[in-house]
Amino acid sequence: MTRAISLHDVSKAYPRGPRVVDRLSLDVSPGEFLVLLGPSGCGKSTVLRMIAGLEEIDEGHLLLDGEYANDLLPSDRDMAMVFQNFALYPNMTSRANIGFPLRIEDPGADPRPRVDATARMLGIEDLLDRLPGQLSGGERQRVAMGRAIARHPSAFLMDEPLSNLDAKLRAHLRAEISRLTRELGVTTIYVTHDQAEAMSLGDRVAVLRGGVLQQVDSPRAVYALPRNVFVAAFIGTPRINLLRGLVRAPLDGAMTISLGKQFLRLPEPLSLDHQLLRVQQGREVIVGLRSEAIRIAKRSAARPGEVPITGLVEHVEFQGHEVLVLSLIPI
Ligand SMILES: Nc1ncnc2c1ncn2[C@@H]1O[C@H](COP(=O)(O)OP(=O)(O)O)[C@@H](O)[C@H]1O
Ligand SMILES: [Mg+2]
Repeated sequence: MTRAISLHDVSKAYPRGPRVVDRLSLDVSPGEFLVLLGPSGCGKSTVLRMIAGLEEIDEGHLLLDGEYANDLLPSDRDMAMVFQNFALYPNMTSRANIGFPLRIEDPGADPRPRVDATARMLGIEDLLDRLPGQLSGGERQRVAMGRAIARHPSAFLMDEPLSNLDAKLRAHLRAEISRLTRELGVTTIYVTHDQAEAMSLGDRVAVLRGGVLQQVDSPRAVYALPRNVFVAAFIGTPRINLLRGLVRAPLDGAMTISLGKQFLRLPEPLSLDHQLLRVQQGREVIVGLRSEAIRIAKRSAARPGEVPITGLVEHVEFQGHEVLVLSLIPI
């Protein structure tokens, strides 16, 4: 069984400290893969630990399948946590590590069949007799995943499970986690500070800053329609270009944003968001330009639908599949 997890106006402060989670509301559907994304220290682990029952909730409600769950013991929540530092017992083999929670749950049952099935799923049958010290980082993390999966929990809580691994292994395990959780159909909340990881894994991404939820949306929506400048700047590499501008909305002419001496004429027909600017004559705005929306060309070579702005190329980075141009746009 997989579960719905809801937070309603949840807040948390550590003793004598400020709020580190501030009136957070979030609804995670059964079977959904939700990523909690934000910079280090923004409260991600605290949120996860409150859901797991490892940290008390000061204010607000946690609901599991619609039932009030603030005071449920961690062991009664039926969730499995995977941490960044693997947390395996060093003196136990992989088999014993994976089987450990099963033996705690039901001392009479033989954990072998479940451990074997889990190991097959993860492709770690050959590692079952080894101790953690005889495993590489990636193998250890697979065993830690195995320990979480073998229990057949109703939710996975993963706290930066890949951040101790090198880039190649991270990409590989990322795909594996995605496949496994989809196969199992188990509700998963996955914490990371890595926006690329968040975008590639999440059904939805919840962006957190200083304990405050900024936006929760599909990866596509947080990328294309960021709710605020923080989200815009946090998501996407290369970073979005941010320019200060003023709205010029003449009654009869084209909508433009003045960027100092330059004018950015908004493409017609105006998008819904751009139409809203019609009534905001003179307002200061921040213009976000995604790099891939910009093409370098001679001013006279603009194609229909394109709007020219002039910049000075300062540096060019060749990356193989793309070229990054760092330029100064005088405004
Ligand atoms: N046990 C604790 N006691 C006091 N402050 C803590 C404790 N755990 C975390 N914090 C503080 O709470 C804030 C959020 O921490 P955390 O949830 O670990 O952030 P993240 O996981 O996003 O990096 C940080 O400022 C951190 O220093
Ligand atoms: Mg953390």
